[in-house]
Amino acid sequence: MQIYKVGGAVRDRLLGIPVTDIDWVVVGATTEEMLAKGFRPVGADFPVFLHPKSGEEYALARTERKSGRGYGGFTFHASPEVTLEEDLIRRDLTINAMAEDDQQNLTDPYHGQQDLKDRLLRHVSPAFAEDPLRVLRVARFAARYAGLGFTVAPQTLELMRQLADSGELQALTAERSWKEISRALMEDQPQIFIEVLRECGALKVLMPEVDALFGVPQPEAHHPEIDTGVHTLSVLQQSALHKLPLTVRWACLLHDLGKGLTPTEEWPRHIAHEHTGLKLIKAVNERFKVPKDCQELALLVGQYHTHGHRALELKPSTLLELLQSFDVYRRPQRFEEFIAACEMDARGRKGLEQRSYPQADYLRGAAAAARGVAVQPLLEQGFKGPELGEAIKRERLKAIKAYKEHA
Ligand code: CTP
Repeated sequence: MQIYKVGGAVRDRLLGIPVTDIDWVVVGATTEEMLAKGFRPVGADFPVFLHPKSGEEYALARTERKSGRGYGGFTFHASPEVTLEEDLIRRDLTINAMAEDDQQNLTDPYHGQQDLKDRLLRHVSPAFAEDPLRVLRVARFAARYAGLGFTVAPQTLELMRQLADSGELQALTAERSWKEISRALMEDQPQIFIEVLRECGALKVLMPEVDALFGVPQPEAHHPEIDTGVHTLSVLQQSALHKLPLTVRWACLLHDLGKGLTPTEEWPRHIAHEHTGLKLIKAVNERFKVPKDCQELALLVGQYHTHGHRALELKPSTLLELLQSFDVYRRPQRFEEFIAACEMDARGRKGLEQRSYPQADYLRGAAAAARGVAVQPLLEQGFKGPELGEAIKRERLKAIKAYKEHA
């Protein structure tokens, strides 16, 4: 058997980027031989094994993928006769279809090196269409390597468009899609992921609620960029520039979905979009079985971001309700994430990226004031049950009023 390093490890070494994860392809071996060498199979039907010591993935060279069964919904034809070239031609992009032996000799039958030089994300062959997840993968690579000048080759974009039109994206499992989406959002330029999906028509299929924001105007006085889709992408970009976590980035992407539902006669105003958007945010969350912390923050940011912007004008009772809604006493981190998302919303406006956001510290101060209310003295005064709850609320309100007067 011959063993080659493949995929991302080869690509990133040639790009001079640190390699974290190494994938291997094994030519000329059978499952039995792999098991005899101590490799552990990943799944019953899937010809992938884990190295007994390193835990790295070793896949038998394979051709022909069929959707339906096996690892991630696929079955494969793997056999010792399958050559390295036959395996590589079934991979997604030319830059991912290079192999390297233990002497660092490169096998590059589909000109991945040339495409690395030309900064092109190009599919290897029509077999690209065997896995519709690749539409998301290419958009993710476009986001990751945008800083290096990579773009999607026009023919590949066309193939992605055909896949999006064919309805095959709907067949992707929530888990596989979310894995790509969440990784893409954590790239330095996540807005490129959304832009590429939009360009090939996949955004309309995967997240029609986000796609619908493009072409929807907002008042120019607050939003010099006018277009809600453009604004959303800028907010997402800001969240990456500020190195914010996935929860915040997800909330940034979804915060204004309600604006896509505004009747055109109300444009450019969007009355109550915070409320109309909630059912859309919920639908997107459920579609991709998004982790609970991301779901929750997206809904809270959707509902309350305007409160965040108006923080300094809010009545103490409204401020208190806001803090209660976030359960800021037990979940202080979540409130910090809300503040961060509001700030990104404010910065994601054309020409206003550097403007300060005093609301952030003001909200933090209000939360600290409410959290500073001690429960013990109220217990000592004999408050119990619902009355205790009311007494705590009264004290918190007092604390917020005092804070507001001195802020
Ligand atoms: N691959 C593919 N089609 C997919 C998934 C993977 O062709 N849907 C191939 C590509 O050759 C890819 C390799 O399998 O390079 C390894 O896949 P994976 O580890 O998912 O991605 P990497 O390319 O290593 O990228 P990353 O750095 O994002 O992990």
